[in-house]
Amino acid sequence: MIGNWLDIGPVNQIEPGMARTLPVEGGEEIAVFHTMTGDFYALVNKCPHKQGPLSQGIVHGAVVACPLHNWNISLKTGEALGGDEGCVPTIPLKVDAGRIYLLRSAVLGEKPKPEAA
Ligand code: FES
Repeated sequence: MIGNWLDIGPVNQIEPGMARTLPVEGGEEIAVFHTMTGDFYALVNKCPHKQGPLSQGIVHGAVVACPLHNWNISLKTGEALGGDEGCVPTIPLKVDAGRIYLLRSAVLGEKPKPEAA
């Protein structure tokens, strides 16, 4: 159901290995990552350690290294890796016909609504 998904633009707006941020009125800023292998992930743009801006970190594999204290955060789960503990919310994302979509309810911090019958 397309109405549940927010179109945030074409995939080629984010170079591989980079991220862009998406300000959300009344919600948390989102970071959208493009990995070197062509996958896309979205997380709340706050490191679980001390809220470092993950969008400015180095992407390696499906992991981003936080720019502040170098914690490694999984782009798939939002969890801190290695000996570090904490988790940042992930935002469901899909790519369709060259465009990136985020799950609207997750972006806005709402509970998912049941699909209309
Ligand atoms: S704020 Fe990210 S590692 Fe410290």
